[in-house]
Amino acid sequence: VLTPADRAQLARVIAVANGKGGVGKTSTVAALGVLAAQAGLHTLLIDLNPQGALGLDLGYQGDDGAGLRNAVQAGTPLTVIADVRKNLDVVPGGVALEDLLSVLAGQAMRYPIDQVLTRFAVSLAATLTAGAYDLVLLDTAPSLEMLELQALAAARWVLIPVRTDDASSATLAEVGRRFDTLTRVNPGLELLGVFLHAVSPSASAVRRQTYDRIHALLGPDAPILDSWIRYAESVAHQVRRRGRTPTELDADLRTAATWWERLRDPSLPAPPAAAAATVAGDYERLAAEVVTRLQDAEKLHAGPS
Ligand SMILES: Nc1ncnc2c1ncn2[C@@H]1O[C@H](COP(=O)(O)OP(=O)(O)OP(=O)(O)O)[C@@H](O)[C@H]1O
Ligand SMILES: [Mg+2]
Repeated sequence: VLTPADRAQLARVIAVANGKGGVGKTSTVAALGVLAAQAGLHTLLIDLNPQGALGLDLGYQGDDGAGLRNAVQAGTPLTVIADVRKNLDVVPGGVALEDLLSVLAGQAMRYPIDQVLTRFAVSLAATLTAGAYDLVLLDTAPSLEMLELQALAAARWVLIPVRTDDASSATLAEVGRRFDTLTRVNPGLELLGVFLHAVSPSASAVRRQTYDRIHALLGPDAPILDSWIRYAESVAHQVRRRGRTPTELDADLRTAATWWERLRDPSLPAPPAAAAATVAGDYERLAAEVVTRLQDAEKLHAGPS
């Protein structure tokens, strides 16, 4: 079971979640993870999705989630792949997590639900006791309720990407229900922010309408972030093909071979899409907002000094 000391270990754990699929969860975890690591924060990313797509965005080869599955089953610390980037470690996901679903479903019939929901949290707390991380981001699976709940039971914060076309009452009501399920197990869980992912920069009216809809659903105090991530298909494609985040593609752009160098040597890679720079800027603003909110919240909880 989870002790108060374990909970304290989990204070810097952010689950990026939205019951819906394809809304930008994995892209956000990868992009923010790299930015945090570059800023000097020792960062851990955990892929809790049987699809294991985080490995595509960051260009690492994982173990199909077998290590993560085994650790959660045994309640032991997670095995990390260290230094995927400087300051950035990952715990890979993948198909093995499907076994975990059936294991947890079986346990749910034999053990108290609080205990079953916190299986991953126990392993994560043990991991964080052993290795010091400044920030932990959890990539979550859509629609696999039990896996998403494991992430939310371990997290202190939830960050929710939404697309303008699915900021529907159904999606956000679902998120609200998850919070209700977890109030007893994880009473400290809080919404860090909701932000728009893959929106057209020119559609400011659509953004405003979406914000209104989110406020109508979550209340006037709902933490909607000022930053949003623009729609950029070419950049998204290159991220997955090259295993580099927009920030890294932007840097690659500055060191890419010139057109005449490529003419001489056709084996040189084509430069990344120029739009990588603007998307990188979007993620930087998001990262700055997330870090500021975290710091403000921590100051508040620590009380006046
Ligand atoms: N800024 C962007 N503009 C357009 N498409 C994007 C952008 N960022 C990511 N994508 C693409 O959108 C799709 C969904 O993104 P992503 O995989 O991050 O979402 P997800 O919520 O993790 O999905 P899943 O629920 O399947 O895990 C992917 O194909 C990705 O390449
Ligand atoms: Mg994903």
